[in-house]
Amino acid sequence: MIKIAPSVLAADFGYMADAVKALGEWKADMVHLDVMDGSFVPPITFGSQMVAAIRKETDLYLDAHLMIVNPEKQIESFAKAGADNITFHAETVEDLPAMIQMIKSHGMDASVSIKPQTPISAIEAILGDVSMVLIMTVEPGYGGQAMIPETVAKVKELRELIENKGLNVDIQVDGGINLDTIHQVLEAGANVIVAGSAVFKAEKPAEVIRKLRGQP
Ligand code: DX5
Ligand code: ZN
Repeated sequence: MIKIAPSVLAADFGYMADAVKALGEWKADMVHLDVMDGSFVPPITFGSQMVAAIRKETDLYLDAHLMIVNPEKQIESFAKAGADNITFHAETVEDLPAMIQMIKSHGMDASVSIKPQTPISAIEAILGDVSMVLIMTVEPGYGGQAMIPETVAKVKELRELIENKGLNVDIQVDGGINLDTIHQVLEAGANVIVAGSAVFKAEKPAEVIRKLRGQP
């Protein structure tokens, strides 16, 4: 099943509560939360306090994408804030199994992400332990960028690997996904789609979410 995860990075931060409530009305499958620290990526966005505020506004699944160094320091506060999933970057962690274990022990789903230049081999050993792998289709840090076409081959490689191993792991893609580019990543095997600008800058966001999901 294709799931759509709109990123509130593209929403108006002054009206975050409205944006999150709207995602429920637009029938989004989850809320994608881009957490940036000014170190792993240049911008700073928000942390667990914002997640707690968002938690009060929606029952949707909260999908936190941590673009931060030392993610282990934030797991407890994100769990308390009500996040449902933590996606950390493989580039920020030495002991991946320990990080996954820590997230799960706090009652959250554990997922891992890799940047465009990081190979699939970096996460192959832990594929059986995560619920989702996020293949970045742009360099992390900013919304509104164009998808990097070379990343599509990584999605295909990962899907084949998951099938060969007989695993049940979601493949999420993030960055530059819109109604023009989505078919490429779906064909390659992605099934969880992050979309920031494509949803929040649209005139009819509910329609875009439906169409991204392949519905009329
Ligand atoms: C980028 C973020 C993305 C971003 C996507 O670092 O991880 O989630 O919000 O934005 P769009 O869909 O506009 O490319
Ligand atoms: Zn993201």
